[in-house]
Amino acid sequence: MHDTDKALSVDLLQKQIIENMTTSVLILDQSLTVLYINPACEMLFEISRRKATGKSWQYLVTGNQGLTERMKSSVEQGHPFTKREAQLELMGDRTLTVDCSFTPLYEPSADPSLLVEIQHMERQVQISREENLISQSHTARALARGLAHEVKNPLGGLRGAAQLLEGELESDELKEYTQIIINEADRLQQLVDRMLGPTSLPRKEDTNIHEVLERVYQLIKAEAPETIRIERDYDPSIPDIHADQGQLIQALLNLVRNAIQAMGDEGRLILKTRSKRQFTIGQNRYKLVVLVDIIDSGPGIPEEILDKIFLPMITGRAEGTGLGLSIAQSLINRHGGLIECKSKPGSTIFRILIPMEKDNDSG
Ligand SMILES: Nc1ncnc2c1ncn2[C@@H]1O[C@H](COP(=O)(O)OP(=O)(O)OP(=O)(O)O)[C@@H](O)[C@H]1O
Ligand SMILES: [Mg+2]
Repeated sequence: MHDTDKALSVDLLQKQIIENMTTSVLILDQSLTVLYINPACEMLFEISRRKATGKSWQYLVTGNQGLTERMKSSVEQGHPFTKREAQLELMGDRTLTVDCSFTPLYEPSADPSLLVEIQHMERQVQISREENLISQSHTARALARGLAHEVKNPLGGLRGAAQLLEGELESDELKEYTQIIINEADRLQQLVDRMLGPTSLPRKEDTNIHEVLERVYQLIKAEAPETIRIERDYDPSIPDIHADQGQLIQALLNLVRNAIQAMGDEGRLILKTRSKRQFTIGQNRYKLVVLVDIIDSGPGIPEEILDKIFLPMITGRAEGTGLGLSIAQSLINRHGGLIECKSKPGSTIFRILIPMEKDNDSG
């Protein structure tokens, strides 16, 4: 390999590293005009590289005058500095809590520039919350499954014995009692089966998320009162994902049914899809993540159960078993994904995140 080739491949490697970093990186010139912004920074600022390049720092960060002044003198005097837990005020009235470092760059052949590295704090907090959610849901499901297993066998025995007894009984009046035992045992059996959850491994194939959503839409349209408006807001550019269709339909139905139940007779339900590049779920980072939002205009999730709705047996409904969400969460976890929830009166959003790449599948 020639020296120039080597230099070229190091250049390429450096470029790749910056492009794939989770830290947001910006390079500004002396007058704080954007020369470069990496994909993580595009996501953080919600702006494309094409749009950001050539704009001033103050176009991106509209407030923080003091910080801007400090950055200017940092390039002029060559002094690097770090700012922790800065509240960046961005265009569109967004505020981000970030840690950022500023490093003046000098190259003999070029004008001085400023390297800006930004770590999004809320993102860090969110990653640990997501990890908690995943591990909490694993533990709770294991408990529920263990309990269901223990109940299953004696229940079978109970039902069998009641049937035998019924065969021996002459009086229809007494048979009513054995019928009660049998019917109640069947009801418990169904509950136990739901607690055990899906037992088969997901059978993953190339799946169009919108086909799945259309199936759910058709099913729910037939079930929901006509006074509930159901809208679809799809991003048609989303490529196929590697997933088990049946399991996705079940997970979605559990979420959509909850929304319909919460809204009662009137309201608005939105099924929405989007995709995000370079997105992290828990500790894992994916090139592309598919987002499915189920948004309803119902009363919101009761405050006292909001932080534990994904646990089995947690319900706010008199007739609920509290299994729907925990099953949905475990189905999506099997696809390497996660369900999150945000809720306030008038707007509840359940967001399903499913990673695209096959090599990152966990199921
Ligand atoms: N979209 C929503 N709006 C308001 N509350 C909700 C919504 N989704 C879920 N909940 C609350 O979360 C609880 C748990 O939901 P989950 O689906 O796990 O159980 P369930 O609906 O009570 O029973 P099951 O689904 O097993 O029949 C619900 O009882 C309800 O109180
Ligand atoms: Mg439910």
